[in-house]
Formats: sequence, C-alpha cells, structure tokens
Amino acid sequence: MKKIISVVGARPNFMKVAPIHRAFNKYPNVEHLILHTGQHYDAAMSDAFFQDLDMPQPAYFMGVGSGSHAEQTAKVMVEFEKAMLELKPDFVIVVGDVNSTIACTLTSVKMGIPTAHVEAGLRSGDRGMPEEINRIATDSICDYWFVTEQSGLDNLLQNGSPKEKVFFVGNTMIDSLHYALPKADKSDILNEIGLKPKEYVLVTMHRPSNVDEPKQLGELLEILAELSKDRIVVFPVHPRTRKNIASHGLNRIIEQNPNIKLIDPQGYISFLAMMKNSDFVLTDSGGIQEETTALGVPCMTIRTTTERPITCEIGTNTLIEPTSDGIRKGIHSILNSRRKTGQIPPLWDGHASDRIAEIIVTQCLGL
Ligand code: UD1
Repeated sequence: MKKIISVVGARPNFMKVAPIHRAFNKYPNVEHLILHTGQHYDAAMSDAFFQDLDMPQPAYFMGVGSGSHAEQTAKVMVEFEKAMLELKPDFVIVVGDVNSTIACTLTSVKMGIPTAHVEAGLRSGDRGMPEEINRIATDSICDYWFVTEQSGLDNLLQNGSPKEKVFFVGNTMIDSLHYALPKADKSDILNEIGLKPKEYVLVTMHRPSNVDEPKQLGELLEILAELSKDRIVVFPVHPRTRKNIASHGLNRIIEQNPNIKLIDPQGYISFLAMMKNSDFVLTDSGGIQEETTALGVPCMTIRTTTERPITCEIGTNTLIEPTSDGIRKGIHSILNSRRKTGQIPPLWDGHASDRIAEIIVTQCLGL
C-alpha cells in the first residue's frame, strides 16, 4: 500500500484536487489523503467547496491562516514538515500557484519525497505577480510535471525539465466543472439573487495590483457603476477586496448604484451556475479564464498578461489593459461587437485526473 498526500491551501486548489481524490479511489493499493494548510479558512472560502465537490474532510489540517508572503510561506513549511514526519507519505501532489504550493514543494523535495506539480509550466512572464514566482520556483524543484496546455509543455522543456517526467494530461479544474455542471443546472441561485440568464455581468476582482491601491479600486468601481446602467452587475466579493472597499471609504459607490449587487463569496456550484448563465464575465482571476473557456462564455480579463494563453488563442478569453481607458474600451467592445465563440482546448475533457492517477500509480510509483 502506498500513501499519497495532495495539498490544498487556497480556494482555487479545491476544485483541482477533488477529482484527483476520486480518481485514486479506484486503486486499492493506494491510500490518498488530503492535507489542508489553512491558507484560506473562512467557511465561504474553504468549507463550502468540500461540500460542493463531495470531497472528504482533510485528513490533516494545519491552520496556518493569513500573513505576509514570507510569514505565510514559512509557517506552511514549518507545519508541513511536521505533518510529513507524522504521515510519512510515499508521494506528494501540489497544485496551482499559491503560497501553499511552493511552501509544501520546497519542504517535501528537501525531505526526499517524490513531488508532482499539477498545472505545471504555466508562465505569465510577469515576475511582479507572486503566483509567477511560486510557479517558477515550484517547477524548478519538483520531480514530475502535469500540464494543462501546450504552452506549459513548451515552457518546461525549454527550461530543462526531463521530457519523460512531463505529462500533458489536460485540466483537473475542468474535471470538476464536468462533475458539477448537472448540479449547477439545478441550482436556485439565480432566483435567490433575482437574476435572469444572460441579463447580468459577473465580476470578480481580488488581485493585489487591482484592489490594494485606493485609486485603482475606486476607478474600477466607478466603471462598474457605468456598466450597471446597461446591465446588472453581480460581484461576489473576495475578503481582501471587501476589506479594501470598506477601508478606502468606497462603499458609497456601491450604495449609490443599486444595479451593482455586491454579494458574499459563493460556493462552487452557485458560482458555476452564475458563470454559465452570465452575459459575460469580467475578472482578474486565473482559473475563471479557463472555466469560461470551457463553458463558452465570453470573459474579459483585466490583466496585461496571462499564464493561460490557450484561453485567448482558442477560447473565449480577452485580455484588457488594467487602466480606466483600457477597461472602458474592453467593456464597450464586448457590449457592441461580435463576441468570441471559442473552442475547447485539447484534453479538457473531464478525464485529466484519471490520467494523472494512472501515471502516478504505474510510472512514478511502479505499482
Ligand atoms: C490567494 C492566492 C491567489 C489566488 C487567491 C484566490 C497566493 C500568493 N495568492 O490570494 O493566487 O488567486 O488566493 O482567492 O497564494 N482572507 C480572509 N479569509 C480567508 C482567506 C483570506 O479574510 O479565508 C483575507 C485576509 O485578509 C488575507 C487576505 O484575504 O490577508 C489575502 O489572503 P491570501 O491567502 O494571502 O491571498 P489571496 O489574496 O486570497
């Protein structure tokens, strides 16, 4: 019997690990456990996802919480080392690009535990993003790389990853999307908020570069106020953004514009239903670029770069400059011109996790 630990820490990790857990359930000679670092801890940012994704409670919870990058990364490393000494896994899986991803990789690789990175090889080229540093550092030390799109494969091979340990398997986030869509189709969330399909724009915004500076955040909210004259704007707010709106005294913009509906962060099923039925999505997220491409819903991403170029090349995603002019231009064009229809990227078929489990069991663990 081999023991495999998958690490989750922050909201975008849960939907990547849930289908991997299900895939390993099919192997009687593997025990797959989920470890939660506790980087995200609010019920709406964490617990809700375990329920929506039918994921078992984590076998190990570290409770590290928030802090500066150094504090958070260091706390995860210290606690993860203790967990590894106790759990003694044969293999560790990390996903995505959050602080928990690099912290656990650095710890497990130094402890000599074979470590695989799922969603490896993505690069925005923007070293100002903490996630880009996490991606570069994780990919340069892990032992196996599982890739979602061709650009990931190209980046890794260019940077010297041995090609026999790099596997183009597709996207586990899209596995979760396929799994949950039937439930999302039955969700009552649109009625609860008073929305009709295709009559609203869904907005998410949490990147420090967009929401930490009062001026940038204020301008973004003013633009949403303008957009709300044409469309209902639904904005599930990340705790970071919520705190900044309050502390920068920007609540008045929301109060004066009743067509902007600021709501709490949503669970996975509700959010999926809201994405699928929106007219378009305006976001600065990483994963939403992929989910909208899989759903065929137009997405405007308020960033100058993307680590997920396939979503722009063949999907429904468009990057728009994070300036007032750039965002206004982007919104004007999507309201007034023909929209991207898009295609589904190769291997985004709902079976990436099955491929990953099979490769780990047979090739990495030799079972
Ligand atoms: C993290 C990831 C980011 C990902 C995002 C999704 C890193 C470097 N960033 O950013 O890539 O897109 O998660 O949400 O890992 N907070 C709460 N409750 C929570 C979690 C956070 O109130 O459950 C607040 C705290 O004030 C915290 C702040 O949000 O300081 C930021 O949380 P943090 O985990 O540092 O980063 P995110 O912005 O969530």
